Amino acid sequence: MSKIDYHYQGRTAVITGGARGIGRGIGERLQGEGAEVVVWDLDPCHFDPTLNDFKPALIQAVDVSSLASVEEACRATLAVTGRIDFLINGAGINGPVAPVWDYDPEAWQRVIDINLTGVFNTSRTVAPHMRAAGFGRIVNIASMAGKDGNPHIAAYSAAKAGVIGFTKAFAKELITDGVSVNAIAPVITETALFKEMTQEHIEASKAKIPMGRFLQIEEIAALVSWIVSDECSFTSGFTFDISGGRSTY
Ligand SMILES: NC(=O)c1ccc[n+]([C@@H]2O[C@H](COP(=O)([O-])OP(=O)(O)OC[C@H]3O[C@@H](n4cnc5c(N)ncnc54)[C@H](O)[C@@H]3O)[C@@H](O)[C@H]2O)c1
Repeated sequence: MSKIDYHYQGRTAVITGGARGIGRGIGERLQGEGAEVVVWDLDPCHFDPTLNDFKPALIQAVDVSSLASVEEACRATLAVTGRIDFLINGAGINGPVAPVWDYDPEAWQRVIDINLTGVFNTSRTVAPHMRAAGFGRIVNIASMAGKDGNPHIAAYSAAKAGVIGFTKAFAKELITDGVSVNAIAPVITETALFKEMTQEHIEASKAKIPMGRFLQIEEIAALVSWIVSDECSFTSGFTFDISGGRSTY
């Protein structure tokens, strides 16, 4: 993949779930383009400082499903950076793989709390600072599961569909404030989330991708980097497909 560089000197990006996986990949990319990156993650132990010279300005322990935790993280971040220009909502869990009639109700609630309410918590906390600055870019990592609905991961599918709906509504609230809100809907990507999935589920997901391969984290990072750029200046409330040709709408 040939790479176009944007210039994010002076910009600060907060990335939830940024300690590893897709969030980390986005952080590495934005840092490489000059942004100051702050990681908000439930488990900072997931962060491996030896990889790829990634040096966040702050790695903050935060549970996005707790509004108080998010508010504390925002205070701690602003004390260090003084600003938040980009908010990338990447924190997420897959939850169990089971039919609805066997799905544990507590697991259902946890998946919704983290994947959907977490996006609400960070958005409501960070947006006032972006509005005051007259600039902001919010990017929510949804999933193709939120568009198609994947059997046996109903909570995940419902939460991600919720993120897509939330993105549309919230974008309209901010439409004249210089703050865009968009989502992306990736197909299956090779990350640690694979450990929570059965081999059968992984193979079935791959078979649905017309390009016949898994999505790479770098490809997601490239899309997000463009969405937060000044060149993406007339799109808000949209869910960008990144599905290797799978998505038809
Ligand atoms: N991997 C895929 O195939 C795939 C496909 C589509 C969408 N996504 C979405 O992309 C995002 C990142 O996925 P990934 O594969 O990189 O996952 P990952 O498990 O590798 O990383 C997720 C990170 O989120 C953190 N996290 C979990 N719960 C949290 C909480 N309550 N508060 C704060 N941080 C929390 C974890 O500690 C972890 O570091 C998720 O939202 C996921 O649903 C993943």
